[in-house]
Amino acid sequence: MTDTRVPSRRRYLVCDPGHFAVRYAINPWMCPDRPVDLALAQRQWRTLVDVYRAHGHTVDSVKPVPGLPDMVFAANAAVVVGGRVLGSLYLAPERRPESVPYETWFKTEGFDVHRPESVCEGEGDLVPAGRWILAGTGFRTAREAHHEAQEFFGVPVIGLTLVDPYFYHLDTALFALDEENIAYYPEAFSPGSREVLAGLYPDAVTATREDAMAFGLNSVSDGRHVFVSPGATALAARLADRGYVPVPVDLSEFHKAGGGIKCCTQEIRS
Ligand code: ARG
Repeated sequence: MTDTRVPSRRRYLVCDPGHFAVRYAINPWMCPDRPVDLALAQRQWRTLVDVYRAHGHTVDSVKPVPGLPDMVFAANAAVVVGGRVLGSLYLAPERRPESVPYETWFKTEGFDVHRPESVCEGEGDLVPAGRWILAGTGFRTAREAHHEAQEFFGVPVIGLTLVDPYFYHLDTALFALDEENIAYYPEAFSPGSREVLAGLYPDAVTATREDAMAFGLNSVSDGRHVFVSPGATALAARLADRGYVPVPVDLSEFHKAGGGIKCCTQEIRS
């Protein structure tokens, strides 16, 4: 077992779930008839923020807007690499207004925001992973947005096709462990995309369907600590075997909207 994994300090952007709810259904997890416990959601979310800070990370937040129940899913608002911000264009009309408050936040912080022309759901589908940006399509982000991202960042973008509606965003099926490696659930991808991932990442940590259904691939890693859903037990064991330190954080109330730890976290890469 290697225990030499070195964490790096990150800057995260989050949005308080004060207006979180499940009001419409745009993925198979969402069931507007099933109540969300808002007080519990808020406690879970605050724990996530506290845990990030306790691990030395900086956490900034955007003010939530009434009537935008999915705004808590900050990952979808943008992709930030090398201080360049690619904004979002949501597929669902219900989510489109979220772009405005996030864009305002970035501008206030001194960033220019490039607006995509095609549907592009931020880090939900564009996952910076070392030398490449891994990019999902199939349910949300358009293939054309992958080209836009490559032009904008000047980083090779690897297009991957998602095939299972439960894993409608790339960040529900895959996450970057560090600059060199990823963890993913192979069955969420088309056969060709699986071959691409196996070729690029022969040492990847793979997850079971149970891990994936527990939102285990919707994790955040600082290179050493992996903030992971406690239900993803097999994945946590595999991560520990590889020298990573799983840090369980339960966001079960957000699973009702199809989101987890990573969905609630936007990484600002300077
Ligand atoms: N209800 C939201 C949607 O379906 C959840 C977004 C989750 N975010 C993510 N990065 N996967 O759009």
